[in-house]
Amino acid sequence: ALVTLDYLMKKAMKGNYAIGAFNFFTYENLIGIGLAAQRKNSPVIAMASVGAMKIMGEKGTVGACYGVARDYDVDMVLHLDHATDYDLIRRCVDNGFTSVMIDASSKVYQENVDITAQVVEYAAKYGVSVEAELGHVGGQEDHIKVDEREALFTVPEDAKRFIKDTGVDALAIAVGTVHGFYKSEPKLDFPRIARIHELVPTIPLVLHGGTGVSDDDFKKAIQLGVRKINVGTELKVHGVFDVSKQAYASDSGSDPRSVSVKVIEACAKIVESRIDVIGSVGKL
Ligand code: G3H
Ligand code: ZN
Repeated sequence: ALVTLDYLMKKAMKGNYAIGAFNFFTYENLIGIGLAAQRKNSPVIAMASVGAMKIMGEKGTVGACYGVARDYDVDMVLHLDHATDYDLIRRCVDNGFTSVMIDASSKVYQENVDITAQVVEYAAKYGVSVEAELGHVGGQEDHIKVDEREALFTVPEDAKRFIKDTGVDALAIAVGTVHGFYKSEPKLDFPRIARIHELVPTIPLVLHGGTGVSDDDFKKAIQLGVRKINVGTELKVHGVFDVSKQAYASDSGSDPRSVSVKVIEACAKIVESRIDVIGSVGKL
């Protein structure tokens, strides 16, 4: 069934594990997520990116996700990822998303609080969960120097204030990960994760930029309070794009279904390997 992020996060906090949150860019990609969750007997978070939403539409996305959760008989969150537009968030809430992320992390503190609190108020009426971001997780393509990036790390004391000021269900933190493939080894600021968790112990922390982070780093971050780990690029590039390209090139029967099957399996394999590390196996 489709469940809320809050529901899964509460279970994960009790059990000291995290739940994988996977972006989907195509229907096959989404099926791969459902299939992996079923094979691992694990709950899962499916994340629609704003770009994917433009293609699939709110209602189409909700319908597809509802169907996959039922077909594979798993607990699945349908989460809107990195939304900056209040109207889009409202439409997603209205149409049946069970969780949304408002990303106002590029704004100053008070503006971030104001828009996030507005989203929380709206979403609460429908029982929809809200994730927000404090500090800013950049992209590898941003060409920011290390010290400039560190200036954007989440300040633990601010996190405490932010939770009080907004009432969000989950908090994305900037602690050294970036979006996209890493050019050099990611260096996570573990003491910072620990400090944030100490100040907001009841709030599940979210780690963005999961592609390319080592198994050990995942496990350490989870021990310190991370409860949701986002993985996107790996699925987009290795799960969907590379596999589709290869499959189309080698397909002699002109049958797109043979490509779909390969993409589903490739995405499922990636998700399964992440679920193994993240520790939500058998938590359905
Ligand atoms: O919100 C999405 C995630 O942070 C994805 O990060 O593409 O680096 O895996 P990634
Ligand atoms: Zn992200």
